[in-house]
Amino acid sequence: MANLVLLSLIFVTFGAGQGFSVRDAPEVNDRPIIGVLAQAAYGAKAKFGKTYIPASYIKYLESAGARVVPIRVDLSTAEYTKLFNSLNGVLYPGGAVDMFTSGYAKSAKIFYDLALKAFDQGDYFPVWGTCMGFEELTALTSGRDVLANCKGTENRSYKLNFTPDYMSSRMYGKVPVDILTDLATLPLTSNFHQYCLTPQNVTNNAKLKNFYKILSTNTDDNGLEFVSSMEAVKYPVYGVQWHPEKNNFEFGSFLNITHSDAATRVSQAMANFFISEARRSQHEFPSPEEERAALIYNYTPVYTGNTDTAHFEQCYFFD
Ligand SMILES: *[C@@H]1O[C@H](CO)[C@@H](O)[C@H](O)[C@H]1NC(C)=O
Ligand SMILES: *[C@@H]1O[C@H](CO)[C@@H](O)[C@H](O)[C@H]1NC(C)=O
Ligand SMILES: *[C@@H]1O[C@H](CO)[C@@H](O)[C@H](O)[C@H]1NC(C)=O
Repeated sequence: MANLVLLSLIFVTFGAGQGFSVRDAPEVNDRPIIGVLAQAAYGAKAKFGKTYIPASYIKYLESAGARVVPIRVDLSTAEYTKLFNSLNGVLYPGGAVDMFTSGYAKSAKIFYDLALKAFDQGDYFPVWGTCMGFEELTALTSGRDVLANCKGTENRSYKLNFTPDYMSSRMYGKVPVDILTDLATLPLTSNFHQYCLTPQNVTNNAKLKNFYKILSTNTDDNGLEFVSSMEAVKYPVYGVQWHPEKNNFEFGSFLNITHSDAATRVSQAMANFFISEARRSQHEFPSPEEERAALIYNYTPVYTGNTDTAHFEQCYFFD
């Protein structure tokens, strides 16, 4: 009997190393690495470096078992392609840069095009956009600026109004039902955006309409309904206009962010979903040395939460 237990232990350990999983997702990679886009630093942040990534996005991904590599702006297409082939997913964070001409937009487009092409060839590479990253996805898919002005959504926490088919979505389909209930009934999702995508903006644009399924909406203080979560019908492309990473990692007292037990679990559920998608990707760095050199661990975040205007407790800066 003791032998049998030992044997099955060995089998389980061995199996885990090969990526077997008790869940039904066809996971193949238990060491996913996510790229996060940097963007130009402005205002008070500019004195620390030319580009930055808020540390909350990094901690959010790490909390779900991923490691992170920063994706710097203005690399060559060959360098971005090499990163794409080494990473298991990409996250477009929020911020404030141009959706078409910025370094952020250019690197986002390269990863988006590579991810779609890879999917068509049987290679799964998930793309996630948060807030401005969500808006960037609408620009990438439609090739246009289709957004509405949404001034009534700076500093708001909303409950989500789910659309009928959210339960069959990939994004929410496996989220535990008590967390979905909290999302639908409590003001847990923090909104800090001046632009938004209305359901009509989607209906008006055939490319968007055919590409995405709307999973939830919200209504801003001026009565304008906007899309708050969406996923691509065919591709592993996901967008949320709200900020799942803020609940657990941003604490500015002037920010309308919910830090309750329920909010914490929502944040973790969204991170878990995206990283479960990334575990389906088998990309890897050519060598352990190149992997180590690329990881965010090579950088030290700066405490930026100690100024009146800082929206982020900590940021990573790059030259
Ligand atoms: C998007 O929606 C807003 C608000 O309804 C509207 O003003 C704007 O013209 C729309 N833009 C497009 C391209 O559909
Ligand atoms: C925070 O968000 C909630 C929900 O939208 C809103 O009722 C409240 O007024 C906001 N608080 C502030 C100070 O803006
Ligand atoms: C944002 O909300 C927070 C708390 O909910 C509040 O203290 C702060 O004054 C609000 N800021 C603005 C600009 O409305």
